[in-house]
Amino acid sequence: MSRISILGLEGTAWNLSAAIVNEDDVIVETTATYKPTTGGIHPREAAQHHANRIKEVVGETLKKGGRNIDAVAFSQGPGLGPCLRTVATAARALALSMEVPLIGVNHCVAHIEVGRWRTPADDPVTLYVSGANSQVLAYRAGYYRVFGETLDIGIGNALDKFARSVGLPHPGGPKVEELAGKATRYIPLPYTVKGMDFSFSGLATAAQECTKSFALPDVCHSFQETAFAMLVEVTERAVAHTEKKEVLLAGGVGANARLREMLGIMCEDRGIEFYVPEKRFMGDNGAMIAYLGLLMYRAGYRTSLSDSKVNPNFRPDEVEVIWRNNSS
Ligand code: ATP
Ligand code: FE2
Repeated sequence: MSRISILGLEGTAWNLSAAIVNEDDVIVETTATYKPTTGGIHPREAAQHHANRIKEVVGETLKKGGRNIDAVAFSQGPGLGPCLRTVATAARALALSMEVPLIGVNHCVAHIEVGRWRTPADDPVTLYVSGANSQVLAYRAGYYRVFGETLDIGIGNALDKFARSVGLPHPGGPKVEELAGKATRYIPLPYTVKGMDFSFSGLATAAQECTKSFALPDVCHSFQETAFAMLVEVTERAVAHTEKKEVLLAGGVGANARLREMLGIMCEDRGIEFYVPEKRFMGDNGAMIAYLGLLMYRAGYRTSLSDSKVNPNFRPDEVEVIWRNNSS
């Protein structure tokens, strides 16, 4: 039987990425990253970046990976509207010209599935932490349910916002981590967990205020300790509630060594497994979109042109997980 190959396009925010994936591996992946000249992401500028680079990114991918494609998968949401629309337009045009089906995928679900593919995780509680997103998810009765999430901004954006306010270059997360390593004390900051949800906006503002009276490394350290403790608390409660035996980390903030350490300690204490995929599969990448496209394609899922509209607020629990057959 010949292998199924899927072309996947990702472009929800900074990263424009195309990849071809088959059942065995990632065949090829090409990425172009938008870098704003000042401040944070400008959605229309990012979309223009994607429009300018998509021909080259897709062209390179098809040149290296071959044109023998069974379907075109794309990120239908969540993400920035202008970016999503640019990439969806390209996906539709490619599917039509190659005469293959189109598959619109949920970006958050793709993070989970790529983690299940690239680590031994089978049925984890997933902590997905990126710039715009912060969610605790787990599979239950046919859907990836959101057990907890941010009530305002994502942890990555909170770190970036704080970093920018104290003059650190973008992206702020790695800089905050580096400075935190030089801290000598912990400063209490607002810890906001409401039920199973959390919030980071007040923490970012309070940390910014704190830099007037305390050394920057101490504030960076305290920011991390507070924010990560909130994330670990909610993840642990989701584990306790679902009785799952695995935790999976996803998203660009998952690169942070202290967050990994704290999650690792929690998992060890509970006697469960903790999985972290290779870095290239943690941040936004085309391979995860192609891979989820492959799972959905095999399960018979197709997106008609009339259903291919992007959805900037697409929630993972709107997608019926028809490709998994466990009943847990
Ligand atoms: P999404 O569209 O899913 O929100 P994104 O565009 O924010 O994704 P990612 O690559 O998933 O992209 O995550 C980027 C975020 O990760 C940035 O906010 C960045 O500051 C943060 N980040 C990267 N490395 C680290 C680190 N070592 N510690 C903390 N945060 C980090
Ligand atoms: Fe993401």
